Amino acid sequence: MITAKNLSLQYPDGTIALNEINLHIKAGELVYITGPSGSGKTSLIKLLMGIEKPTAGQLEVLSHSMNRIDVKNRMFLRQYMGPVFQELKLINGRTVLDNVILGMRFLPIPKQQWKTLATDALEKVKLSHKILSYAENLSWGEKQRVAIARAIVRRPSLIIADEPTGNLDRKNAINILELLNSLRQENTSVIITTHATHLIDSKLVDQFIQIAAGQLEAKSMEEF
Ligand SMILES: Nc1ncnc2c1ncn2[C@@H]1O[C@H](COP(=O)(O)OP(=O)(O)O)[C@@H](O)[C@H]1O
Ligand SMILES: [Mg+2]
Repeated sequence: MITAKNLSLQYPDGTIALNEINLHIKAGELVYITGPSGSGKTSLIKLLMGIEKPTAGQLEVLSHSMNRIDVKNRMFLRQYMGPVFQELKLINGRTVLDNVILGMRFLPIPKQQWKTLATDALEKVKLSHKILSYAENLSWGEKQRVAIARAIVRRPSLIIADEPTGNLDRKNAINILELLNSLRQENTSVIITTHATHLIDSKLVDQFIQIAAGQLEAKSMEEF
């Protein structure tokens, strides 16, 4: 599903965000990417989504080379991805339902099905009671759930969640991680970045990838 070989990303200002990393993620795996702030986690996610291009090495995502990807291919590939952005990117002034429906905009899903699918996704994240609330009136934990519903409604092959437990208390954070784990059915791979390693239930995890200053280190579960 994802293979990186000596993958590097250097930003135009010279910052080396990732330095010759290697990784392999299979379909259906739950993978945690951990590391301190500024270590390169978001940069890796940007590469996986084609927002940034590798400056050296190779990256393949869902059988596509991300080295040569153009806008058209990137749009195509995005159909299979369900991103949960660090800053969530919900739209204020719109309801929870509308926000989730927006996740389906560019997918080949008939419009008549949008409401039912969005309602189902919101049930999965336990937000049925907030369906007509406005995004700006939700707590941060509820907003995270909307962002997750907007990702899963796409029925993606790959869910990518960047610091999905940021700003949450322990109980809500654990709930979010359990929710993301439960989405792994249907062969969906789930990639989660976090620096809150103490909240991870290591029994459920297939790979821990630790980033430090742009370099990867595979760690065994016991080290967390
Ligand atoms: N657009 C950018 N231009 C230049 N440097 C960047 C840019 N985005 C991130 N960086 C730098 O790249 C490094 C990795 O950042 P990032 O991937 O956001 O880390 P993390 O998500 O682990 O906090 C940091 O040193 C950061 O300052
Ligand atoms: Mg980040």
